[in-house]
Amino acid sequence: MGKVHVLDHPLIQHKLSLIRDKETGSKEFRELVEELALLMAYEVTRDLPLKEVEIETPVAKAKARVISGKKLGIVPILRAGLGMVDGMLKLIPAAKVGHIGLYRDPETLEPVEYYCKLPYDVEEREIIIIDPMLATGGSASAAISFIKQKGVKNIKLMCLIAAPEGIARVEKDHSDVDIFAAAVDECLNEHGYIVPGLGDAGDRLFGTK
Ligand code: PRP
Ligand code: URA
Repeated sequence: MGKVHVLDHPLIQHKLSLIRDKETGSKEFRELVEELALLMAYEVTRDLPLKEVEIETPVAKAKARVISGKKLGIVPILRAGLGMVDGMLKLIPAAKVGHIGLYRDPETLEPVEYYCKLPYDVEEREIIIIDPMLATGGSASAAISFIKQKGVKNIKLMCLIAAPEGIARVEKDHSDVDIFAAAVDECLNEHGYIVPGLGDAGDRLFGTK
């Protein structure tokens, strides 16, 4: 069974409160989303395997530990997931980045796919799907299904705010996937927005509303 990890580090919670505030403009919103992604990447990669190598410091030979060649991929769900890519790459610069374009039909709330480009060796990689919002869970579940169809075995989902409904959907459809979130909010409203949430993440990142 996949686990839900709520990342309650004070820096994460502080920055999350700033982006929830409706007075926070796009520039600051973008900067904070990037910083949040960086801080969360630290926790999401906590289980990366290490191997021992021999190095030479200016003083002596030493045994040291480095990450042992696990290949990572980051897959943002367009558009809003784009805001989290640079933060993740700051910590894991060797990761390859794939893109999945999905938007949520405003009437049916069902995800509609419009773009997909993944690393050529995606099936050899551990994939971290990133999207600020997990609302009904339709977009995340569709993205996970799609990546699984490409042969990927190891997938994590990282979002800033999750609704209980979205968590339940991903747990039902993909019980093998761990979910990382900075907060689990109360519920969805009648338009499928997370309450209290932060509004429309894509519009706030890119200033489109
Ligand atoms: C938002 C968000 C998720 C999705 C979550 O994207 O970034 O991808 O909604 O909702 P769900 O869990 O109910 O599927 P949106 O469809 O607004 O597209 P955008 O990122 O292009 O603005
Ligand atoms: N997508 C968003 O951007 N915000 C929500 O609250 C729900 C879906």
